[in-house]
Amino acid sequence: MHIARLRPDHRGRLGELLVETGAFNADEVAVALALFDASQAALAAPASDADDSTDYEFVGAFEEERLVGYACFGATPATDGTYDLYWLAVDPAVQGRGIGRALVRDVEQQLVARGGRLLVVETSSRADYAATRQFYARSGYAEAARVRDFYAPADDRILLTTRLTTRDGGAATR
Ligand SMILES: CC(C)(COP(=O)(O)OP(=O)(O)OC[C@H]1O[C@@H](n2cnc3c(N)ncnc32)[C@H](O)[C@@H]1OP(=O)(O)O)[C@@H](O)C(=O)NCCC(=O)NCCS
Repeated sequence: MHIARLRPDHRGRLGELLVETGAFNADEVAVALALFDASQAALAAPASDADDSTDYEFVGAFEEERLVGYACFGATPATDGTYDLYWLAVDPAVQGRGIGRALVRDVEQQLVARGGRLLVVETSSRADYAATRQFYARSGYAEAARVRDFYAPADDRILLTTRLTTRDGGAATR
């Protein structure tokens, strides 16, 4: 398995992957692909034409050149060294083999190299997100804030964070 930046020709497989996870509805898949298109367009544009869409970056995990997972992240506007991890997905056929962890660590390492301070992930309190919360907890992310009933009654918005520069055994030391 290796990790590399996504290119425009990965779009088709990215769409398949998002559907295969079963975790995202049609609207969410469309948003994820729209962000990808915007990021690729921004990368292709001359630097002076780049707009906010460069705030979304994509890295993929590949097994024998097949895309099996990806992460989307970017600088949080109007902050000093804070980044958002917007999206993370691993092909169900290869989940539980460390690919999600490897993607998160790759993002963390890139951000440490840029002087990033804080990485933020947003998730839901719903029971069907328990595995996702467990994944982030095992990866060193802790609850920093919670907005009760944000998404719906009894469906809280949870902000998880990890410090990029101080955590022992995490991004800063790898
Ligand atoms: C969440 C997700 C990215 C995890 O990817 P993965 O490759 O399966 O995870 P890893 O194999 O790297 O696991 C890393 C750690 O998380 C834990 N973990 C992963 N999936 C878990 C699950 N379903 N239940 C409990 N713990 C889990 C593992 O035990 C491991 O911990 P450990 O090494 O300390 O024992 C993947 O399950 C996924 O794509 N889910 C659907 C989409 C999603 O929920 N995305 C995140 C929100 S956008």
